[in-house]
Amino acid sequence: MAKIGIFGAGYVGLVTGACFADLGHEVVVRDVLPERIERLRAGEVPIYEPGLEAVLERCRDRISFTLDVQEAVAGSDFLYVAVGTPPTYAGDADLSAVWTVVDELPDDAQAIVVMKSTVPVGTGEKVRAALDARGLEAVGYVSNPEFTAEGTAVRDFMEPDRIVIGAFDEEDGDAVEALHIGIDGPVVRTDVNSAEMIKLAANAFLVTRISFINEIANVCELVGADVKHVAEGIGLDHRLGPHFLRAGIGWGGSCFPKDSLALKQLAANSGYHFHLMNAVIEVNELQKRRVLQKLQRHLGRLRGKSIALLGLAFKPNTDDMREAPSLVLASRLIAEGAEVRGWDPVARPELPGVTLHDSPLEAVRDADAAVIVTEWPQLLDFPSEETRAAMRHPLIVDGRNLLDPDSVRALGFAYEGTGRRISPTDVLPEAAEPELEPSE
Ligand code: UDX
Ligand code: UDX
Repeated sequence: MAKIGIFGAGYVGLVTGACFADLGHEVVVRDVLPERIERLRAGEVPIYEPGLEAVLERCRDRISFTLDVQEAVAGSDFLYVAVGTPPTYAGDADLSAVWTVVDELPDDAQAIVVMKSTVPVGTGEKVRAALDARGLEAVGYVSNPEFTAEGTAVRDFMEPDRIVIGAFDEEDGDAVEALHIGIDGPVVRTDVNSAEMIKLAANAFLVTRISFINEIANVCELVGADVKHVAEGIGLDHRLGPHFLRAGIGWGGSCFPKDSLALKQLAANSGYHFHLMNAVIEVNELQKRRVLQKLQRHLGRLRGKSIALLGLAFKPNTDDMREAPSLVLASRLIAEGAEVRGWDPVARPELPGVTLHDSPLEAVRDADAAVIVTEWPQLLDFPSEETRAAMRHPLIVDGRNLLDPDSVRALGFAYEGTGRRISPTDVLPEAAEPELEPSE
């Protein structure tokens, strides 16, 4: 069994560390945040990731947490880099945390550096050159990108669709492959640049599918088709498959927005205008804003109207608010003069101007509309006599097509989904005050 140092105790670093410890390896996770390390040492898990706590508990004696670089490096055969790579203002990935880790390696380091963080193509070559320039030729370098989705990260790690390993040196690649013994899944062995590109291209393709189905949904609304049925009919084609065809209010999260932007930027910096990527990103920006038009169609001007956002995290089963569509929606609604309330079973973000409530019922009391922003299963039984009676206007805009339109309408709500047929009975009787004043 190997000794593995992991840099970064975030969503990716913690899951990677816990799963390797579960496979029997000795793991030391290093982070720069004292509070995070203290909590982990006390047995707390600082992020919401189903299943992670149980794995950490199970391997307590094989995983430790530290603020000290030396402790993570000493005796380690592998040094996994799992620090964040957020976008810069230019849209490129900010690699400063990655470079800090590389620069902090001691002069006598012997391990294999394994890049888990998502980085632009060419990063591995630059790190290799920097290591060589410091006389660290004995330090190996391997790209081993992550494909774990939040909420299912532990399962995705232990039962992966594939393990991608890009190495400069065949033996280093073999060593990283051997770390994964015990995990069943095809292994793709390649060069470092291609491994880096696989990660960016996989995410780019997934967001392309979502933006595609979102545009189909928008056309469905105009022509009276139902995108849920359309997606089902498309997805049964074995050449296409059913995944990532759920229309909604757009994709967010810690990876998709930054990685699609980084790929677009990487292409542009390399002299190529990536038309498709640009369109896919633009469609997503517009998609987040379409809810406003739906609300206006029913309620007229939004100034003074009270709108409840149900679900705030970028998707269910996470507390992650990074690039959550709720952030764009809340600020657009506030700009229109609406009063915005929010509810989420896990995320408790501090959103300026948004009042958070402890239950969907409280959030919609006297509200003019409820918008389902995140498809938390708790919202499946949101429509009821009680919630309808509590609302000033019983209007539900279902940004995720979570609910069944017929049963919601049968309860007396006006319902508008995404890419679904609009019923004439859906327009609220007192709706549509004319737009007399320009919105703020
Ligand atoms: C990861 C990846 O690293 C990113 O490239 C990938 O595309 C998405 O997932 P994630 O684990 O989600 O990031 O990020 P985050 O939860 O922010 O964790 C990063 C951790 O690294 C934080 O705990 C942060 O404190 C730590 N960190 C950051 C360091 O230990 N050192 C630094 O210099 C900077
Ligand atoms: C994603 C990738 O799936 C994972 O492989 C990568 O390593 C990190 O980025 P994650 O961001 O955790 O994982 O979540 P994911 O389930 O992929 O959803 C991302 C966003 O797309 C969410 O906002 C979700 O609501 C949206 N989405 C997803 C849709 O709008 N429709 C879909 O059909 C699927």
